[in-house]
Parts: sequence; C-alpha cells; structure tokens
Amino acid sequence: MDETQEIREKLDLVNFISEYLPLKKAGRNFKSNCPFHNENTPSFVVSPERQIWHCFGCGKGGDIFTFLMEYESMEFPEALRVLAKKAGVTLRESSFKQGQYSEKEKIYSINSLALKFFHYLLTEHKAGLFALKYLTEQRKVTKASINTFEIGFSPNTGTALSDFLIKKKDYTKQDLILAGIATERGGHVYDFFKNRLMFPLFDHRGNVTGFSGRSLTDDDTPKYINTKETPVYHKGSMFFGLNSAKDEIKQKQDVIIVEGEFDAISLFQENIKNVVAIKGTALTESQVSLLARFTSKVTLCLDQDTAGFEATRRSLEILEKKGLTSDIIVLNEAKDPDEAIKANPQQFKKSVKEKHGVYDFMIQRFVSSNDIDSAQGKKAITDNLLPLFANIQNEIIKEHYLKQLSKVLDVTFDSLAKELEKHQNKVQEEKIVVPLKNKRGEREVIEEFTLALILQSKNPKEIIDGYKIFFKSYVFETGSLGKLFRMLIEFIETQTKFDSKLFSKILPIELMPAFDTCSLYPLSKYGLDETNEVKYRQEITKKIARLSEYHQKDQAKKQ
Ligand code: UTP
Ligand code: MN
Repeated sequence: MDETQEIREKLDLVNFISEYLPLKKAGRNFKSNCPFHNENTPSFVVSPERQIWHCFGCGKGGDIFTFLMEYESMEFPEALRVLAKKAGVTLRESSFKQGQYSEKEKIYSINSLALKFFHYLLTEHKAGLFALKYLTEQRKVTKASINTFEIGFSPNTGTALSDFLIKKKDYTKQDLILAGIATERGGHVYDFFKNRLMFPLFDHRGNVTGFSGRSLTDDDTPKYINTKETPVYHKGSMFFGLNSAKDEIKQKQDVIIVEGEFDAISLFQENIKNVVAIKGTALTESQVSLLARFTSKVTLCLDQDTAGFEATRRSLEILEKKGLTSDIIVLNEAKDPDEAIKANPQQFKKSVKEKHGVYDFMIQRFVSSNDIDSAQGKKAITDNLLPLFANIQNEIIKEHYLKQLSKVLDVTFDSLAKELEKHQNKVQEEKIVVPLKNKRGEREVIEEFTLALILQSKNPKEIIDGYKIFFKSYVFETGSLGKLFRMLIEFIETQTKFDSKLFSKILPIELMPAFDTCSLYPLSKYGLDETNEVKYRQEITKKIARLSEYHQKDQAKKQ
C-alpha cells in the first residue's frame, strides 16, 4: 500500500481536525466556522465517511494532507513526516531522497544547530561569561529560564558560527544566507548576529524559525535585531514564547500579550505562563488567527508609552474581526510589564486579577484626556471611540458601551447611535467581498440540495424507495448529478443499507466531486439535521415537489 494511503487509513480526519477546530456534529457530517476565511455561520464541513473536508464559503477542500498543509502552511514533505509520525507509519528511505527535503526543513536544521551553538557559548564557554552575567545579574533571568527559552550568545568574531556550519556540518554559504544567519560581503560570509544575547524564535510547533539578538553594548546599534524575512521567518505572523505557552493558554483560555522578550520571560518566571510577546508591533491579522486556535480571549499588557497605547488601539479592530474578546492590564508607574513585575510581583499579580474590559479602559482614557463639558471635547472623545465601537461584533456589548458613553458625556443614545452608523458604513465599505462561485441556476441548486438531503439522511434507501415513481421518471438537468443519481439507484438496489464508503469505491473518478459536494453540503446551515426528522422529511418532500414542477414543464414542452 502507498504510504499516504496507509496514513490516511490510520488517522481519523474528524479527530485530527478536532485538534484544531471545534467541530460540531451536523447530521452525518461535522461542521465548524472555516479557518481559511472569515465567517460567522459555519460553511466548513468534514465527512467522517468520506474522510474529506470542504468549505462551501471559500471553496477550499481536500484530505488530511491538504488540511495540514493549508492550516500550517507546510509543504508536502513536511506534512508527510508529521502525519507519518502521528500514524506510526515508518516512511521508506526513498521518501527522503535528496531534494525531497524542503527548503524549510533545511532552514530549521541550520537554525537548530545555531541555537545549540549560541546556547553552549552562553552557558558553558568563557566567551559568553559577560553576557551570562548581564542576563542573570542585571536582568534577573534564572538558569531555568535560560534553559526553557534556550537563550544564547553570539560571539564577536564575525565568522565563528558560519565557520562551524560550513566546516563541521557541511552546509554551503548559500544555505546560511538563506536561513538568515549569515550575510555576504565581497565574496566572504559573515555571521549576521555579533556580540548579542540570542533569543531563538520558535513557531508554535517548536521549529526554530529565526532569532532576535539583543545588543550588549551602549553604542548606537539597534537594541534588537531580528532575522530578516526568510522562507520560514515572518515577523508579523509569530510570537515570542508561544511554543512554551500554548498549553497554558489553552487551559486558561486566556493569553497575556506583551511587547518584548524580557516582558514575557519575567512573567514566566513569576509563574504567569500564558504569555506571548509581539516584539514591539501592533497585532497583525495572522497573529490573531494563530492565537484564536488556542483561546477566544486575550489580555493586552503592552508598554505604558504612546507607542504601546497606539498598538493597543490598533489591535482592537483585528481582535474584534476574528471574534476574540479582550481585557487590558494597566500598569501603575512602570514602563513595561518586565519592570512592573520586578518592582512588585504581588502588585502585578493583583492587576492581572483586576484587569479591565478594554473598552472601559478606552472610554476612561479618552474621557480623562479631553474636556467632557465642551462640545469640542465631546466630539474629540467620540471621534476616537466610535470607530472602535463600530467594530464590536456583539450587539449587546456594543449597546452596553454606547449607553455608558451616553451617560458619561450627557448626550442622547440616539445621537451616539447616529454617529456610530456613519462609522459602521465606512467599515462595511472597506470589507472585501469574496466573489461567489459562478452563478448557477435555481434548478441545479435544488437538484444538488435534494441529492445532499438523500445522501446525508439516516437511511437513503428508504427515501429513494419512498419516491420511487418520481425518481424513475425524473430527468436531471445537471448531467453529473443525473449520472450520480442513476449509479446510486443501481447500487442501492443491491444493498440492504447504504454504505457511502463502498459506494464511493464504485464511482468513476469524474463523479467524485459531485458526490463529495452532496455528501458534505452544509445542511445544518438551513436548520436541517437528524435531530429534527420531521422537518428533514418535509424539506425533502418540498424539494421533490419543486423538481416535479420542473419536470412537468419539460414534459409539456416536449408535447
Ligand atoms: P522595547 O524598546 O520596548 O524594548 O521594544 P524592551 O523590551 O524594553 O527591551 P529591553 O528590556 O531593554 O531589552 C519592545 C520589543 O520590540 C522588539 C523587541 O522584541 C523588543 O523586546 N524590538 C525593539 C525590535 O524587534 N527591534 C528594535 O529595534 C526594538
Ligand atoms: Mn519594553
């Protein structure tokens, strides 16, 4: 048997996808909001019988391999390795032959060696002694944290790491440049990081995607430098610390978002382990999507300066868009969480417990910085707040904050609502409209829907038998559905109960797409599932009546 086939048979797609998404039973299938596009009603369907998935909103679909590749942006060889391991399937040597290893895999291996090299220098070598002292004495980072985060030191020689990887590990100059740990000047390679504390940047699966290096000197070089964009490192779609924090985030259903590496490490040391760092930027959409896999709630704890406030403000729209709720931790006095928790851990933990709703915080913030008694002051406050409120997805929450604001500003709810409307229209216009699949006729849609109802019912044979006369004469307008249906009738006559797996085996390949669509069609979106059998039956009767009308018109034309 083919290895991919063996893996497919050993792993259950529904179990597998459940690790990523909350799947709900819907008739014969399972459904969820689609992870690949924005939606509020589920169009993403998984068939346990067919072991396939499909999104009726964005059109993506496939098997366990394509799901993993799509979800984790993996290439096939990596997905194959991950799934083989999960399934306990040993891959044959030939699956790994030269060139099959992706570029990404090579970069992970280089980075992983670089991590060990840096970590060794910091913890064991005299070259790293100064950095180690700085870390433990000045920044109060413990040995345990150094090991947990695998912190390291890059030496000042300029070529030590490159030499090691080329001479001892047989990598080429190009490999090192590709991974972003070396640069080329005048035909020579040089280490990209020199004389810096090294923080490995892991993705949530534990691959080393890159590094950030903190300067150890007071000169005018940047305080932090990060690996430049490579095939595996994208600053805007990762977090520092997510790999070590993800289990805790899942368990607490909350994540504290801080700006810097030291903020995250300091909280971790005080046993606050559901923490990630965005590395000094506002949250991006892909970062929020990544977090949304683990929790539906976040707690923002960015720096207390203007940049931190602006980053908070800009993050809100994206958090709302992805349906996450957010609180905020307000620091007293301290400039960032690292300083705050070191100054007074008890106080910090108290403010974690007493966190505020982020919109309460925003109201307070703008109210206190403007004159609430003057018309101009009220306008300034609402100009700042209403665009934020316009993004709130939940109407109850939106109304709550509008009411609160109307009280505070002493303006009517109606005038606030009117102003809000203007912002909301703006938000609507900016939304990108996803083009629908090419328009289809009503009859084709009904035919597909009817077949879906039959195929997804508890007992398709019984239904077909119940409408025998109709189905004997009805001619499908859609060719593929007609063929599929004829094969279904022939098949079902020989069976006592309909077995969809068996049926799919006898289907010609060209009918598979039609069969998959009908087996996966999101019926629960129309309020139809097996929990309400009466309604389900009525729907079938209605659709068949509609098809009968079409059929009679056809007959009339022929005469
Ligand atoms: P900050 O400037 O607030 O630094 O940048 P910090 O965290 O307080 O740094 P320490 O404590 O003095 O070491 C916040 C974060 O933004 C990223 C880093 O991840 C930093 O921790 N950053 C900052 C960069 O990526 N590049 C920079 O040049 C500066
Ligand atoms: Mn900071």
